Amino acid sequence: MRLDKFICKSTGHNRTQARQLIVAGEVAVNNLIIVDPAEQVHENNCIIINGQILVARPSRYIMLHKPAASICSNVDEGYPSIFNYIDVPDMDDLHIVGRLDTDTTGLVLVTDDGRWSFNIISPQQQCEKVYLVELRSAIATDAADKFSAGLLLPGENAPTLAAKLEVISPRQVRLTITQGKYHQVKRMFAAIGNKVIKLHRQKIGDLDLDLELAAWRYLSVAEVASFNPK
Ligand code: URA
Repeated sequence: MRLDKFICKSTGHNRTQARQLIVAGEVAVNNLIIVDPAEQVHENNCIIINGQILVARPSRYIMLHKPAASICSNVDEGYPSIFNYIDVPDMDDLHIVGRLDTDTTGLVLVTDDGRWSFNIISPQQQCEKVYLVELRSAIATDAADKFSAGLLLPGENAPTLAAKLEVISPRQVRLTITQGKYHQVKRMFAAIGNKVIKLHRQKIGDLDLDLELAAWRYLSVAEVASFNPK
């Protein structure tokens, strides 16, 4: 993590104050004065400001049941940001792990731990995301085979990774994917001539959404660890 970020995480300082302290030569990392705010440090390093050893605040891991008509952004942009539904300090340090569209509801993860989010969003990690999808027209009989084989979406140069489609009723399906391309689910159904009219993310990895609409909670230690590479 960057040194200025570490200082914010372990003190009440904001990014500007942290940078000023670093540039003024008041911060030592493993007994060396460091004046570059971008210096990469690890939580095991001994970081001292004015003789005081810093201890980083533990990372935070949050799940939210996103309502429709809210946006996955740190600021309001036409619709309220999902951060309006979460009540924790230093929200600027948090980021969203895999955004949902404005009209999509469901499970959103929020954290300040970039390595952890990488395990969830990187396609290499094969972390499954499960969506409940309502469709305008009855699902075609060959849709599951097409999704499993992979679809070349307009504007992409590689087909989608194998996805699992389960039919609940003619216009309701459950889709499991391991990627998170822009509007991926809607584009996959458009590619087979259908249209998503309602979309809800129910699961990410082993984590099943268990909250009322617009509610949030911290994840348990076991839930956080469930996303670590096996
Ligand atoms: N795919 C979409 O098309 N929209 C979402 O919100 C999530 C996945």
